[in-house]
Amino acid sequence: MELTPEQIAQFEEDGYLIFPELFSPEETAVLKAEAARVSQIDAECIFREGEAQLAKSMFRLHEADGPTASSAYRAASRSPRVLRVAQQVLGDDALYLHHCKVNMKAAIEGTAWPWHQDFGSWRLDGIARPDMATLAVLLDDATEFSGCLHLLPGSHREGRKDPYWDDKTAYKLWAVGPTAMKDMIKRYPDPIRVDGKAGTAAIFHCNLLHASGHNLSAQDRWQAYFCFNTVKNRPADVEQPRPDYVRSRNWTPMETVADDALLASVTVS
Ligand code: SIN
Ligand code: MN
Repeated sequence: MELTPEQIAQFEEDGYLIFPELFSPEETAVLKAEAARVSQIDAECIFREGEAQLAKSMFRLHEADGPTASSAYRAASRSPRVLRVAQQVLGDDALYLHHCKVNMKAAIEGTAWPWHQDFGSWRLDGIARPDMATLAVLLDDATEFSGCLHLLPGSHREGRKDPYWDDKTAYKLWAVGPTAMKDMIKRYPDPIRVDGKAGTAAIFHCNLLHASGHNLSAQDRWQAYFCFNTVKNRPADVEQPRPDYVRSRNWTPMETVADDALLASVTVS
């Protein structure tokens, strides 16, 4: 999928692009069913929350091996609608996935993600430059009520903020603190919602501030995330590196597959 020069300029200016219904209902149903299948597996790379221990975040669905491997996620990550879009916004054809995850925010019980920049964590993984972007796909219709993602337009241009370790959330992460966030929200246009129909996607820069609230609705809010880095920006060695499922060591440049590979994966999985 080729972007226009205007779209690339818009990504540079705002730090994101939104693609309504990028995946068809049939494709999205495959991704959702695969996420449901994987969520039943007992694996180190699946994080759970609440009394019912519902899956909250699960990683490494895109590789050909490992307990959470899914041929549908592997195909989606290499689709021209995902990989080709990431290649264009990052201006480099040699990309790999730093990680791939599905965040599952269960109806009523699914909790918030605080304001953060992805590069807050990824710099600590040993990655030198913010030459990274994430393509998120809605697996359910998402609304503000169900805890859709919010993006602070243009905030990536200020660069990386010093993060703090937020251990209050179900999936602990490096977040940006309230003082810095209040200041930024006052200075920027209102945050935009990544809402709408399942299959809708957004690609956003790794320094773009983003967050999402509690799911107050009766509908689940599941979303898939493909987090791309350029091969030349792969992480340097760090002490106590995070596990491979979140800080991938597979730096082989990814190749695009046919646009219908996701649906075709159903017959071969
Ligand atoms: C994230 O930014 O990693 C998760 C946000 C969300 O799924 O709402
Ligand atoms: Mn994030």
